Amino acid sequence: MEKQRIDKFISNQIGISRSKARTGIKMGKASVNGFTQKDFSYQINPEIDRINYDGNEVLYEKFVYIMLNKPSGVISASTDGKHKTVLDLVSGDLRGRNLSVVGRLDKDTTGLIIITDDGDFAHKCISPKSEIEKSYIAELDGDIKASLIEEFKEGIVLADGYKCKPAILEDLKERKVRIIITEGKYHQIKRMFGVAGLGVNRLHRERIGGLRLPDNLSVGESVKLNKTEIKSIF
Ligand code: URA
Repeated sequence: MEKQRIDKFISNQIGISRSKARTGIKMGKASVNGFTQKDFSYQINPEIDRINYDGNEVLYEKFVYIMLNKPSGVISASTDGKHKTVLDLVSGDLRGRNLSVVGRLDKDTTGLIIITDDGDFAHKCISPKSEIEKSYIAELDGDIKASLIEEFKEGIVLADGYKCKPAILEDLKERKVRIIITEGKYHQIKRMFGVAGLGVNRLHRERIGGLRLPDNLSVGESVKLNKTEIKSIF
């Protein structure tokens, strides 16, 4: 593990600004292996050294994995000049990290979205090779014909000629459906129903792989994933 500056380490791990960390270190709030360290450029090894700040041990987490219940009206990109993004909803103490969004949901789509600073993990999640199931609930502007279930299973052909991978369509009645896909093309679900002449009024992602959005995670709230939850995605 490469060494890094103590001010960077403290600010990234406990989520305070770099300048706040420097001020605190200069004031004597930081210690390395039991010895006060006032030099904020001091190099530490996060995997070996024991760092304390403001009376608490600063635990080292290489990466963070967060699930968010995305509200409608928020962009699922890392930055946007005009609109609020999902990163704006993540707890302030994680903002110092190099977070990015795993895959995209449309601005009006709600539900489960994952945010991380682990690039390899993000890549594996969105790679078509991983064939991870994504389950959505869609509210349509019309009724589905029973034959559409078979067409989705076969792989529906979009207006641009792209043949989708097999998808599972379940009629939940009253113009509500569950749809499970294993790929993530731009506006994929809206375009799939578009072929059948149906509009999608509401779209909500409820599951990615084995990771389900918990009922008690309110809209706009996020929570860190534990190891078991991370594994359940694949
Ligand atoms: N398909 C869509 O059309 N929109 C989404 O946000 C996700 C899947």
